[in-house]
Amino acid sequence: MKNIYKQVEENIDNLVTKNVDWAACASKEQLQAARTGNLKLQFFGRDIPEEWIKDVNGKKVLCLAGAGGLQAPLLASAGAKVTVLDISNKMLDKDREIAKNENLQIEIIKGNMCDLSMFHDCCFDYIINPPSLIYIPNPLVVFRECYRVLIKGGSFIMTAPNPMNYVCDYIPDENGGYYKAVHKMPYYSKDYDDSDWIEYGHTMETYLGGLIDCGFSITGYVECQMEDITELYFIARAKKY
Ligand SMILES: C[S@@+](CC[C@H](N)C(=O)[O-])C[C@H]1O[C@@H](n2cnc3c(N)ncnc32)[C@H](O)[C@@H]1O
Repeated sequence: MKNIYKQVEENIDNLVTKNVDWAACASKEQLQAARTGNLKLQFFGRDIPEEWIKDVNGKKVLCLAGAGGLQAPLLASAGAKVTVLDISNKMLDKDREIAKNENLQIEIIKGNMCDLSMFHDCCFDYIINPPSLIYIPNPLVVFRECYRVLIKGGSFIMTAPNPMNYVCDYIPDENGGYYKAVHKMPYYSKDYDDSDWIEYGHTMETYLGGLIDCGFSITGYVECQMEDITELYFIARAKKY
């Protein structure tokens, strides 16, 4: 099998070509709102609480695995000094294009979020991490690096699926179907099918316990349930003190 990160890169590039909804760029209206002090960042349908990001103007922000022309241009429009790092060039192309068209300064890096060695210690005020830890076998590798590159007082804002997304399978039947808990956690897609798709379902122990083990204090937590009721996501703010 191919290196997992190479395979993930290919999988993401393929999905971007198919215009998946999470590869949609910020709209002109959203960018204008951010420029005039009304920055709104969403993960799925849920706003990141305003309080968590209210002072990004002038701050150094890393959009980690955060390409796609959404978060990075919005943060740059709100006055943040933004770096976006992502494994997919097709996703990064969206940031390149929007930065050019909107005259925004965004540092764009193609890389793997498990290796932030290009950044020195304590160099970011914020790290914004959209849904992406599902492509990493061990999120603690990422959390350790995030802790290292954040300043004291800095915030790591991340989102990930609740394990409920992976425990249940949909069972169709003549009455409209139902969900059944069938998978033990942690989940790995390759245990269930031999396609090229790679995805990891981590436990809450790995996510929240992992952040705490890496030195973070969790100072915020919200959830978002999608129309498919087993699609439950959480957004956490972890602070380095
Ligand atoms: C669901 S998209 C999230 C981006 C989007 N802006 C959003 O808000 O939903 C997941 C992103 O994670 C990136 N990614 C996956 N694995 C990565 C890795 N190991 N290192 C860096 N980026 C990675 C993908 O290329 C993709 O851009």
